[in-house]
Amino acid sequence: MTKSDKPASGAARSYPDLHDHIARLDEAGLLYRIDHPVNKDTELHPLVRWQFRGGIPEANRRAFLFTNIVDTKGRRYDLPMLVGGFAANAAIYRACMGLTSNDEIGPAWTRAIAHPVAPEHVENPACQEIILTDAEMTGPGNGLESFPIPISTPGFDAAPYLTATCVITRDPDTGCQNMGTYRAQLKSPTRLGMMMAVGTRPGGYEHWKKYQALNQRMPICIVVGCPPMVALTGPQKIPLGVDEIGVAGALAGAPIRVARAHSVDLLVPAESELVIEGYVEPHELEPEGPFGESHGYVALEEYSVIVNVTAITHRRDAVLTSMISQVTPSESSVIKRLAYEPQYLAHLRDVLGIRGIKRVAMHEPLTNLRRVVILQFAPGTARSEIWRGLHGAVSLQAAIGKFVIAVDEDIDPDNADAVFWAMSYRCNPARDTKIIEDRERGHGPRTSAEAEADSAMLVDATMKTKMPPLALPKREFMENAKALWEKLDLPPLRPEAPWFGYSLGDWTDAWDASADEAVRGDWMDRSAAYEARRRTGIPLNTPCRSVDDDDAAK
Ligand SMILES: Cc1cc2nc3c(=O)[nH]c(=O)nc-3n(C[C@H](O)[C@H](O)[C@H](O)COP(=O)(O)O)c2cc1C
Repeated sequence: MTKSDKPASGAARSYPDLHDHIARLDEAGLLYRIDHPVNKDTELHPLVRWQFRGGIPEANRRAFLFTNIVDTKGRRYDLPMLVGGFAANAAIYRACMGLTSNDEIGPAWTRAIAHPVAPEHVENPACQEIILTDAEMTGPGNGLESFPIPISTPGFDAAPYLTATCVITRDPDTGCQNMGTYRAQLKSPTRLGMMMAVGTRPGGYEHWKKYQALNQRMPICIVVGCPPMVALTGPQKIPLGVDEIGVAGALAGAPIRVARAHSVDLLVPAESELVIEGYVEPHELEPEGPFGESHGYVALEEYSVIVNVTAITHRRDAVLTSMISQVTPSESSVIKRLAYEPQYLAHLRDVLGIRGIKRVAMHEPLTNLRRVVILQFAPGTARSEIWRGLHGAVSLQAAIGKFVIAVDEDIDPDNADAVFWAMSYRCNPARDTKIIEDRERGHGPRTSAEAEADSAMLVDATMKTKMPPLALPKREFMENAKALWEKLDLPPLRPEAPWFGYSLGDWTDAWDASADEAVRGDWMDRSAAYEARRRTGIPLNTPCRSVDDDDAAK
């Protein structure tokens, strides 16, 4: 075990590391500190899971810091584990980025990806305060086994897994590094299996193919726990050739400090909590999994790459991180949704120039963001723009958009009930839907029944014509009644849109006047007028306005 007591060189750090972030979460009331002994193999993830399956509103979710971790064999671990610390909800995600409003998230990503800030090299980084190599890593209880790495889906997963990773690899041709979040299965104190999903073309996979062609092992560093701005870039789809550490620097407004890894030629964030260094074998593969996947089903065993560990380095006071994934919502879906949605909107609005597009929402509960995408349009948007938007949304990423649904601005795209409501009354499936064939299957369970190619359905559920008002009391009546409700001390309300009626275009001043008369109590004033409009010889349920129009035409 080597210890470095020299402080890191280079300019002072101006961005929060994970320890600063945890302190800020604590101050903001966004952290539970769990000092009770918790079994990492059977209890840790299931406990946090309740936060996502226990009817707790998103705004009330917190990060969990486990300080007293044990395992099934009775082992105690010194290092703590943070779960949900990057994106249990939007407030925690904003805290990572130092932002106060969700509206700032998309523009911050767009700027950072367009203008990365090169990292700054330092010596004696904090992440190498402890260095484990050779004999210090091997043997039972050592190496990977000495860290409190949890089982994510007890009862299904084959082993403890690293989940909140930033996996660093380098392009052997260009020298550019990539950083992505990939899961890694513990197999021995010095061996991991790692899943790189061919379908989503992760950067690490693209690099590995090049090393394979060169017949060389691929150097790799797996960062577990790091400054939050760095952690957020791991799951982001950033173009290959743009180094995520530079994007993190742009998000931080300052270069991220990096240092050369101890045993491989890669640069790692100096303030990483734990770095697992090693090589990926170029040709040999091993079974990996089962593991509960973010599409909500268990990924069955597949052949995946092997990582042989050459060194493990960490801060003396390292805090490890793990991410809740599997069935959505989860930290894994929140971390993607908050960045994907505004970036999708920016693409449709600013790159494709779709007029009238207001919002993009990706449905999260159970469906996992990619399958159901809802586009919200301003009133009066031309049909041609709505269809351009639908086609644009289905082609931005190969595997995003299985059902893409256009709705009006009065439909809350985050509310699936409202979207079904729009589909029910504002859409004629024979005329307002299109099927797009030969789509990628994307991220989903592997089943033998699955067709080679998937397809997508585009749905225009916007109003095609004026519609009668929404049948709820007008806003003023609902507001007055709410005041009365509160005065009567009835149970607290949580208003759900729509909670008042509004015009959708098909409404006249005459009907407004009759409704006004009714609430004033003067409804009988119209008695004689109704008698004057009596007709015979017309079918029951004939709309009055067609008779009025006929009369007017005479
Ligand atoms: C918690 C979590 C776990 C993930 N696990 C994997 C994984 O095991 N393999 C994979 O290919 N992608 C995984 N992803 C998705 C990738 O991180 C995502 O596709 C990212 O864009 C990859 O970055 P890259 O394109 O720079 O490689 C995961 C994402 C999250 C949030």
